[in-house]
Amino acid sequence: MQALAYIVASILFIVGLKQLGAAATARRGNLLSALGMLVAVIATLSGQGFSWTWILLGFAIGGGIGAVAARRVQMTGMPEMVALFNGSGGIASLLVGWASQVTGGGSLGVAELVPLYLAVIIGGLTFTGSLVAYGKLSGRIGSKPVLFGGQQIVNVGLLLGMAGAGLGFVGQSGGAWNPWLLAAIGLSLVFGVMAVIPIGGADMPVVIALLNAYSGLAACAAGFIIGNTVLIVSGALVGASGLILTGIMCRAMNRSLSNVLFSGFGSAGAAAGAAAGAQGEARPISAADAYPILEAASQVVFVPGYGMAVAQAQHAVKELGALLEANGCEVQFAVHPVAGRMPGHMNVLLAEADVAYEQLVEPDDVNPNMAAVDVAIVIGANDVVNPDARSNTSSPLYGMPIIDVDLARTCIVLKRSLNPGYAGVENPLFFCANTRMLLGDAKSSVQALVNEFKDA
Ligand code: TAP
Repeated sequence: MQALAYIVASILFIVGLKQLGAAATARRGNLLSALGMLVAVIATLSGQGFSWTWILLGFAIGGGIGAVAARRVQMTGMPEMVALFNGSGGIASLLVGWASQVTGGGSLGVAELVPLYLAVIIGGLTFTGSLVAYGKLSGRIGSKPVLFGGQQIVNVGLLLGMAGAGLGFVGQSGGAWNPWLLAAIGLSLVFGVMAVIPIGGADMPVVIALLNAYSGLAACAAGFIIGNTVLIVSGALVGASGLILTGIMCRAMNRSLSNVLFSGFGSAGAAAGAAAGAQGEARPISAADAYPILEAASQVVFVPGYGMAVAQAQHAVKELGALLEANGCEVQFAVHPVAGRMPGHMNVLLAEADVAYEQLVEPDDVNPNMAAVDVAIVIGANDVVNPDARSNTSSPLYGMPIIDVDLARTCIVLKRSLNPGYAGVENPLFFCANTRMLLGDAKSSVQALVNEFKDA
């Protein structure tokens, strides 16, 4: 019966994951995956002979915490919450591994000790790495890379230390408080911090996807230790999808994984990029002056970014898009893969506002046509529309594909100031001859444009 329930749960995970791949089916996919987890947890716990009182109590406590956290979190806080989820997965796997050593003591064979060790070290580094990512995403820690002399040597030392402790542990498994395992736990916790602090700015999407993959791999290893097939399957699914996402994010940044992990992004580059500084004078525009330009436009492309999430401007943006369409204008929404602070951030917001999926376009599809676009409206995006990424070799963003809004006939940028975006670099877009800055909170600015259309 339990095996059957595990098969049902695994199928629900796989179908759910498939449905998460498209905006139209994503909600159902999420529900199916959650249902799969419910089936898996009930099948596992009832198979252990626990009383239903304990099972229901566990559901009430865990489900209660999850429900309150999910209801309370602001949309802008979602990326941090995802980072905490990854970290929770990591520490859970570490504890499963350690508990197996404590309870199994000297009786475990190599076939259990190897996954146990992997669960502990991958879980440990995922935990602290995710905490640092949480700090960077929430602004509690600066987004700039933390670099110091000999950093690579320290990291190689930590890796060698973990490998050595692993050999020692597998060779001499006995004892609940095995010193090799304790050393490995300490080293992996330090390594998680050391691995994430040198990565900053625009490279964070890759790290988040990678930590997601690690949390899955750690869970998969934990599944081998306790002989739980559904944990192995779900861990492998998370690990594999996290690695695929890592690949997508690397392609979006046009960087290799090793380049992201070992280059110390932004150290010299950020300074150089900032120092090179964007020159010129920004030209402000009011909603009233922007109206005739938009009213005359026959093709408009919206480019949403993190500022749209902060301002919660998606519904107003959708309304403005509808008004433009009613005026005979073709409207598209260009979504950059790393816009916002988590994979799919803009897609989620636009779907929430019921923007038609067919109106969403990727940079590769919209860029070739950009010169024919009458107005590109940038809603709180910054790094993903920075032309330095195309042409300034000293910019840390150099090489990252962007949305070429500077090539549109007119570009209207909605943000509150001329401040840089997440990567901390200046944006010459603001000083282009065809750019107009509509300064202010994005929601208020879009609402002002909507009012202009309605009043006209
Ligand atoms: P950013 O470059 O971060 O720029 C967002 C802009 O929004 C800011 O310059 C800010 O300017 C503006 N803003 C903030 N609140 C606003 C409001 N209420 N109204 C209007 N504007 C507001 O955003 P992006 O272009 O989306 O790029 C994303 C960046 O985050 C990339 O560097 C990416 O690598 C990084 N990142 C992405 C992820 C994922 S997975 N997507 C994860 C971590 C990091 P003002 O302060 O002047 O208003």
